[in-house]
Amino acid sequence: MSSSVSGIGLAGFGTVGSGVWKILEEHGGLIESRSQGSAVMKIRKIGVRDLLKKREGSAPAELFTTNLMEVVEDPSVDIVVELIGGTEAAFHLVAEALKAGKPVVTGNKALLAERGTELFAISKATNTPIYFEAAVAGGIPIIKAVQQSLVGNQIESIAGIINGTSNFILQRMTEAGLGYPEALKEAKDLGYAEADETLDVNGWDAAHKAILLGSIAHGFLINYKNVYVRGIEKVTPLDIKFASDLGYVVKLLSLVIANKEGGIEIRTQPSFLSKTHILASVNGVFNAVAIKGDHLGESLFYGRGAGQGPTASSVISDLVEASSGSKTNMGFLPYKESGDLVDIDDTATSYYVRFSVTDRPGVIADIASVLARHEIGISGTHSPVDADHPDADFVEMVFLLHTCPFGRLKQALAKVENLDCLTSRPVVFRIETL
Ligand code: NAP
Ligand code: HSE
Repeated sequence: MSSSVSGIGLAGFGTVGSGVWKILEEHGGLIESRSQGSAVMKIRKIGVRDLLKKREGSAPAELFTTNLMEVVEDPSVDIVVELIGGTEAAFHLVAEALKAGKPVVTGNKALLAERGTELFAISKATNTPIYFEAAVAGGIPIIKAVQQSLVGNQIESIAGIINGTSNFILQRMTEAGLGYPEALKEAKDLGYAEADETLDVNGWDAAHKAILLGSIAHGFLINYKNVYVRGIEKVTPLDIKFASDLGYVVKLLSLVIANKEGGIEIRTQPSFLSKTHILASVNGVFNAVAIKGDHLGESLFYGRGAGQGPTASSVISDLVEASSGSKTNMGFLPYKESGDLVDIDDTATSYYVRFSVTDRPGVIADIASVLARHEIGISGTHSPVDADHPDADFVEMVFLLHTCPFGRLKQALAKVENLDCLTSRPVVFRIETL
């Protein structure tokens, strides 16, 4: 059993960074034993913004610096852990670490999804890995599962609930009847949401993770500019209730689906899912990723998708890989330049569409005839008894529509919006059968 100490430069000592410190304090010896002495790690520098902030944990004051480059340049640092978030300072830090030949461990999905092209190129040129298990689905070891355990499969589909904050908020709105602001505050207090929660609730945090999953599954970095993303900010208690009346739950779903022609459909949006589907029972901060491989068939990965312990646990697994100088896992090296992404207008599902309409005879027929002209079939309607607005002159009408391409639905709804019975824009959810 040989052991040499790997010096760790830890950039960020917030929710996740301080969790990494804690695990190394608590389980450093266990990790050393389990790795047969190849992973002996010592944190040698810690980069933060504010030296005066009161912090969790017992890290000695002399390790802290506000100069992030010290975390990379300190000669006693062999591996750099980036846990500051964002795409500017983090990019510089990671790029410099790679150029210095120091492997990087990061939990920063925004950085890799948006600037991965540059960073993976530097990683390849310098033969220095970037590991990012913590960037997707918190504590679920999904990156290693796709890259290593499922390497013998073509990945046919990935369906994920991969933003803990959104999932937690939707559940609290559904089950506790909380309003959106109260549910968001709970998610922030529990450390699930990002410092700036915008990316959580506008769908982009999940989309970044889906981009990473899709990229490692298909071998090229999916361009984030070509990905369809909608968040949960506009999901209302009314649609959550109607979904429930109809046997569905609302979930922020991220999908990466390979079609038979070799195209890849990638999208993130709040969607209706049958209450009986296995992903419908994924609640709170839990994440789940359902993967279908051509040989594997279907497999489900489930666990805590955010928070200190689960995320730091994933960082530690990458640190072990990095400190043991893995020759088999070089992070992600794209092996294709690009791939064919399916235009969102060509993707087809069935739909829930809610119309707020003037309460007069013939309204249903008016809408149905526009839909019929666009060859869109109606599988059902729902006019909830309590959806009348007693002080207003409109009612809510829900149409369930048969499968059709999204582009065709958009054209039809543009025509429906011209009808004088509409009192506001239609609200659309996809109904996913997965
Ligand atoms: P956080 O609690 O906000 O902590 C960020 C840390 O980085 C703080 O210690 C902060 O310093 C430091 N920092 C930020 N900008 C800096 C700069 N320019 N220079 C020096 N230090 C800087 O964030 P977090 O929740 O730990 O998340 C860290 C990363 O992990 C993010 O990329 C996030 O997306 C990812 N992640 C988080 C979770 C989660 O559940 N929280 C899960 C998966 C992935 P101060 O302490 O002085 O402010
Ligand atoms: N804010 C993220 C979430 C953290 O809620 O899922 C984990 O990436």
